[in-house]
Amino acid sequence: MSLTEARQDSGVPGYDDLNRATADLEPPFAVLDLDAFDRNAADLLRRAGSTPIRLASKSVRCRALIDRALAAGMRGILGFTLPEALWLAGHGHEDLVVAYPTVDRTALRALAAGPCDRITIMADCREHLDLAAAAVREAGGGPILVCLDVDAAWWPLGGRIRVGARRSPVRTPEQATALAREVLARPELRLDGLMSYEAHIAGVGDRPPGKPLMGAAIRAMQRASARELAVRRAAVVEAVTAVAPLRFVNGGGTGSVERTAAEPAVTEVAAGSGLYGPTLFDAYTRFSPQPAALFALPVVRRPDARTATALGGGYPASGAAGRDRLPAPFLPAGLRLDRQEGAGEVQTPLRGRGAPALRVGDRVWMRHAKAGELCERFNSLYLVRGSELVDEVRTYRGEGDCFL
Ligand SMILES: Cc1ncc(COP(=O)(O)O)c(C=O)c1O
Repeated sequence: MSLTEARQDSGVPGYDDLNRATADLEPPFAVLDLDAFDRNAADLLRRAGSTPIRLASKSVRCRALIDRALAAGMRGILGFTLPEALWLAGHGHEDLVVAYPTVDRTALRALAAGPCDRITIMADCREHLDLAAAAVREAGGGPILVCLDVDAAWWPLGGRIRVGARRSPVRTPEQATALAREVLARPELRLDGLMSYEAHIAGVGDRPPGKPLMGAAIRAMQRASARELAVRRAAVVEAVTAVAPLRFVNGGGTGSVERTAAEPAVTEVAAGSGLYGPTLFDAYTRFSPQPAALFALPVVRRPDARTATALGGGYPASGAAGRDRLPAPFLPAGLRLDRQEGAGEVQTPLRGRGAPALRVGDRVWMRHAKAGELCERFNSLYLVRGSELVDEVRTYRGEGDCFL
């Protein structure tokens, strides 16, 4: 049984349920299965144990579902841009950490003069600090809260190989302490937290389908990297807290929740993708999120007896281009993309044993490879439970906002 088929058996509504719940809607549209979302949230919280989970909002991009995840027990938001954090603060959210550095002077001034006690910005160099400090001098207010971003990549063989995302240049306790002192030297700023995100562990599936050797290599890499990171992260935190106290130390993501939460130096983990359960999160040994976010496409033509062609569907995910970034047919079972055409801008031919039975006017249900990016394609998510349509909620895009 393929991973996709295993997901089809995993308790989410079936083809008929989904079609019944959305019978009055015209595809394309996107749905969110509430039971799957709630189960996924509960599973993330279980995996984190007593360590709080900060919600990665880029992986949700829908305020109603951010609220639902917070109500389920997640604490605080890890945003992706400062304008997004300001917008969420304007809607009453608190304890927002912006996960990526900002050079947006206008937003920094709005922060300085506005909700600067509710939003923490990310910094990994003096330029970030100078921009924030200048914003406080120009706009008044402040201080602006700062989180230090520390590189989590793995550098085996004395640094000749580097495994991990190219994020912060700050890596050692000495470098982190020097940057912390730079924060303290600016009266416009206040040191608030520290973050190091191990993307190569949290975001790389350790059970790639049909590639057992690669899976074993990924698991070995992740084990070795996690060991190195735990020691280094603890040393960085100890060194920085000797300079100034830290309100939080954030790490991890959906794929590493239990491992990162087990590190004594970490006070909170981040996660978001596991709520929607996109296809890139099918390939992990330690957990299996249920597909909660789906989109429906109408079958609009039958070019031949073995092909059903749907309207639209070309919503590839970001990252290094590859087949794993394409959306995947989900229901009915037995569909696959056409190798030549993939998922197209205006049409997506579907092949496989499920295709011959499809008729013009039928629907196919698809999954995105990543979580929040789906919300950049649809103005709303229809909330379904079993065969019932429960609600319609707006995505960020549906609210007229596009932050990245
Ligand atoms: C800084 C940071 N932390 C954590 C995560 C994990 O988020 P998710 O659980 O959605 O993979 C991300 C996602 O890219 C991130 O950028």
